[in-house]
Amino acid sequence: MVLPDSSQAVEERPAQSGEELFQQLAEGVSQTLIRDNPSVMQEILSTAQNAARQAGAHILRARPELGQINYKGRVDLVTNVDRESEAIILEVIRSKYPDHAILAEESGSKPVSGDWRWVVDPIDGTTNFVHGYPFFCVSIAVQFRQQTIVAVVFDPVQDEMFSALLGQGAYLNGKVLKVSTTPVLSKALLATGFPYEMGDRWHRAMDYFKLFYYRTRGVRRDGAAALDLCYVAAGRFDGFWEYDLKAWDVAAGMLLVTEAGGKVSDFCGNPGDIDDGQLLASNGFIHFSMIEVLASLSGN
Ligand code: IPD
Ligand code: CA
Ligand code: CA
Repeated sequence: MVLPDSSQAVEERPAQSGEELFQQLAEGVSQTLIRDNPSVMQEILSTAQNAARQAGAHILRARPELGQINYKGRVDLVTNVDRESEAIILEVIRSKYPDHAILAEESGSKPVSGDWRWVVDPIDGTTNFVHGYPFFCVSIAVQFRQQTIVAVVFDPVQDEMFSALLGQGAYLNGKVLKVSTTPVLSKALLATGFPYEMGDRWHRAMDYFKLFYYRTRGVRRDGAAALDLCYVAAGRFDGFWEYDLKAWDVAAGMLLVTEAGGKVSDFCGNPGDIDDGQLLASNGFIHFSMIEVLASLSGN
């Protein structure tokens, strides 16, 4: 076999921005960490799965005795079960990794220094949970120097455990996950969600819904962003977009999509960031077409 002469094949590349370079360095560090410490990474993954399973079992057990339902906003609900699920997860994490930082939806962020941070949504899809609509999950991501390297999303109703390690693929109950191969928007099934607050972005989200509905086989609004992203990773949905998401809604799901071969970005195609609020995820093939639709309404 004749190998290409690398000295002749030097491609002209545009100069990198400092930010890009930093991102690549961070990726390199994380990839090396995973490669060089498979047992450490496996242990973190098992801990996340264990926490998600324990919380999921509690959520199913507790639903018939659902206590008081409180409002964080006009329709943004929180229950005692959200808090109990979070307490279970935090207990599992702290007993194993007492010096890791944790950002969790119901208790917020405790400032802990160090390289590691867990990002936790104790019930994603609380409104569904309250109404007995069986589409909710537990979402846990683990970050190393702000890069998500472990992702676990557990749907206790279907007993589906979605998990991913950076650079090692995505899995559903141990089986490899792949995004769909749907090549065009006209054959795609999409998912989305709507902001709780009914301001400008809510109206814009409604307009996007119409635009995508018109161009695809359909758009679902299932009410649990983390699980929507898992469904993109599993090829059940071809794409997903939503405004006003929080880090705990998307951190795990984003890694699952990319590890299943898909793409994540903001609405303009810039690299996806868990703190961005807006997220576009797809099988990759229809990504640009989705950006075009999103760009057709100005002012994201
Ligand atoms: C919500 C769900 C929903 C999305 C909302 C989220 P919660 O999370 O992910 O699909 O539309 O923006 O806040 O409140 O059920 O954890
Ligand atoms: Ca959520
Ligand atoms: Ca939640």
